[in-house]
Amino acid sequence: VGTALAAARDALHERDGARFDAQLLLGTILGRNSAWLLAHENETLGDAVARRFALALARRAAGEPVAYILGETGFYGRRFEVTAAVLVPRPESELLVTLAVAALRERGDPEVRLYDVGTGSGILAVTLAAELRHATLVASDVSPAALVCAKRNARLHAVDGRVHFVLGDLLDAVAAEERFACIVANLPYVRTRDLQPFPDPTAFEPRLALDGGPDGLGPYRRLLARARTALEPAGSLLMEAGPDSAHELAEISRRAFGDGATVSVERDYAALERVVRVRAPGERHDR
Ligand SMILES: C[S@@+](CC[C@H](N)C(=O)[O-])C[C@H]1O[C@@H](n2cnc3c(N)ncnc32)[C@H](O)[C@@H]1O
Repeated sequence: VGTALAAARDALHERDGARFDAQLLLGTILGRNSAWLLAHENETLGDAVARRFALALARRAAGEPVAYILGETGFYGRRFEVTAAVLVPRPESELLVTLAVAALRERGDPEVRLYDVGTGSGILAVTLAAELRHATLVASDVSPAALVCAKRNARLHAVDGRVHFVLGDLLDAVAAEERFACIVANLPYVRTRDLQPFPDPTAFEPRLALDGGPDGLGPYRRLLARARTALEPAGSLLMEAGPDSAHELAEISRRAFGDGATVSVERDYAALERVVRVRAPGERHDR
């Protein structure tokens, strides 16, 4: 174990987090955590494990994200399956969950309906369903392969009865009279010219999940043209953005929602401006 990890760190030495990646890859192959690896440096690896580890390292050395190699990752304290059809869940997206849960608890109505636009692996919809036990959700994506992954994650966390996945553009699945207490969106927001080539890890991710058009805000502009009428009075729209475009997205949101709406920009754990929060005008109607 010790020799394999040292060799792996050398093989990945030019990458940030090489030590962590090597431990995560070997630990997952062995079904052990990093504390076990440290305590068992003299353990001998079997041939099959050594071969799997070598293959995983070669993929990582070529730039592939660890989540794709392992087929899973963590988000908001839960495990999620990840395939090459979905964006690798990012820790900063946890802020969307935290803000949505806070907004809905403040509303005080447990039986809320939420919409997750561009659900990808389903991390946001599934986590929100798991955190808010009486909520029901609609989650959309234009990628059929992403929805396969999202549905598997919903079953994995036993929330598939409360999350309705739909194949479709943005809020198209919403009937004209339908209203939601909260809409969360992590839509593609990378400017086309900023998309990175191989071997950057993001080049392994679907372009459909990253490319936000010339200024990165194309999908959000289209969402904002429709979002207001899909929200309940005093409902929340939470959108993840790039730190360099959050203010512009906030401006577009103010124009789209008009007077009476509250728009703010929230910082992530790295203190970067990450989420634009819109609270629609009006008072919540009590049931
Ligand atoms: C940045 S990824 C986010 C995935 C996931 N919500 C997350 O936070 O990890 C954006 C997702 O939006 C989907 N998408 C792109 N354009 C869309 C559209 N017009 N309508 C619905 N989904 C869209 C992509 O297929 C992708 O799965």
